[in-house]
Amino acid sequence: MEKRALLKEKQQQALKGGGEKRIAAQHKKGKLSARERLQLLMDEGSFEEIGMLVTHRCRDFGMDKEVYPGDGVITGYGTVNGRLVYVYSQDFTVFGGSLSETHAQKIVKIMDLAMQNGAPVIGLNDSGGARIQEGVVSLGGYADIFYRNVKASGVVPQISAILGPCAGGAVYSPAITDFILMAENTSYMFVTGPNVVKTVTHENVTSEELGGAHTHASKSGVTHFACANEVACIDNIKSLLSYMPQNCEEDAPVYDYEDADESRPALDNIIPDNPNQPYDIKEVIEEVVDTDSFLEVHKEYAESIVVGFARIGGRSIGIVANQPAFLAGVLDNNSSRKGARFVRFCDAFNIPLLVLVDVPGFLPGTDQEWNGIIVNGAKLLYALSEATVPKVTVITRKAYGGAYDVMNSKHIGADLNYAWPTAEIAVMGAKGAAEIIFKKEIAEAEDPQQKLKEKEAEYIDKFANPYAAAAKGYVDEVIIPSDTRSKLIKGYKMLENKVVTMPKRKHGNIPL
Ligand code: HXC
Repeated sequence: MEKRALLKEKQQQALKGGGEKRIAAQHKKGKLSARERLQLLMDEGSFEEIGMLVTHRCRDFGMDKEVYPGDGVITGYGTVNGRLVYVYSQDFTVFGGSLSETHAQKIVKIMDLAMQNGAPVIGLNDSGGARIQEGVVSLGGYADIFYRNVKASGVVPQISAILGPCAGGAVYSPAITDFILMAENTSYMFVTGPNVVKTVTHENVTSEELGGAHTHASKSGVTHFACANEVACIDNIKSLLSYMPQNCEEDAPVYDYEDADESRPALDNIIPDNPNQPYDIKEVIEEVVDTDSFLEVHKEYAESIVVGFARIGGRSIGIVANQPAFLAGVLDNNSSRKGARFVRFCDAFNIPLLVLVDVPGFLPGTDQEWNGIIVNGAKLLYALSEATVPKVTVITRKAYGGAYDVMNSKHIGADLNYAWPTAEIAVMGAKGAAEIIFKKEIAEAEDPQQKLKEKEAEYIDKFANPYAAAAKGYVDEVIIPSDTRSKLIKGYKMLENKVVTMPKRKHGNIPL
């Protein structure tokens, strides 16, 4: 055969993956093929494939008779919205996207390139786990990937989309990456599937219940985004990338921003007159940030804290906010872990933080204590203390107890601390405080109820405001809510060259 024709034939064979029948089966399940996904993700014509003709080496169990160029994963580089990314897309039509020795080597190759050249790695996962016919070399291949995931952590952003049934080893690489996205109804993640679960624990559970997008978005928190379908999932990846720098030594891109009137009068009416009445902190976020720029992360998980990216004056920020509309915005095990993980991503990639505070404290109870609220709460405290990016706090209402310290207080290194006139900065709520410190006086009073009310009013007068904290300089300024956006824009500009030198050490020991 003519040499160029031979090349063309080999390329054509690679483009077909596991064949038309299997691609049709993939479509029938509501899934796209590995190449269709890449087409959606990458800028048109930008994708350059690496390793198209790689084939597996195993010759046992009839593997010599089925050889597919590319070996079940398409790897390469290209651009997303004009910015370089490295990408792999697993092809379920070839041995169920399972990971062989060579499949792993292809992924490792682009991960090494990504680290050396400072650009994000995006994995489109659709894999039945370790290639069963290959045995230990496949396990070794996984470990080679995990090792690189860890080395790349905090160096370049790593994003994993789960677009099919990902079992066994196929879930651990995504678990180490920065963000996981899943497509509803077509993607699953589990270490052991429903059949194994049934054998071991006698539980009857469907794949969807055990490890579907909704399960991982709301129950386990394993996934950061549950997307309606694969197209939405890929759009979400592009949006996510827009808030991030290419690597830890760069800043996130700055987008054009029209300098207009920064006053946001709606903020003056958000806090209800009754301090125990809830309101939605997302309304505050939407007012403060650039229009439509808020991208919520972990939306369905641990909803008493809201985290996500946004832009303010065209620049990326990461937001951590107590949510009074859910469990009064309390900090619990899951919300503390959720907040901490997000803070660490932002800090690793030079994304300034905004912390909105309305928190009644930590959630009491045996469930919380037995599940480690002490170490979990400490994670958020540790993460915010350790972060060296610009850190700005706005206390909208309650900042009670230890949660005051944790939520980016001045004492743990916040750069600018603002409070609204509605702020209450105290060790606890007025009623509880009065009951404790005036216990004897109240018990001995002619009318204990009346006495309690008086003492509660006394405590409110003293602490249910931001002025004691402002007098100490713990709050830099008490601001009118409608001025918040303009204060933040100026504040982040002032902080844009912030440099903090940390003590010499190998690494800290966050209470994991
Ligand atoms: C080799 C595999 C495979 C695997 C699937 N296939 N998984 N081949 N190794 N791990 C092949 C099938 O033989 C089939 O080939 C094709 O892929 C599609 O698979 P189906 O079963 O027909 O598809 P579906 O019904 O959609 O089920 C998908 C699945 C199931 C849920 C992923 O295939 C499955 O349970 N696979 C095994 C999962 C597993 O136990 N993996 C090993 C985990 S251990 P044909 O030729 O018919 O198209 C592991 C260890 C690493 O990963 C640990 C590191 C920490």
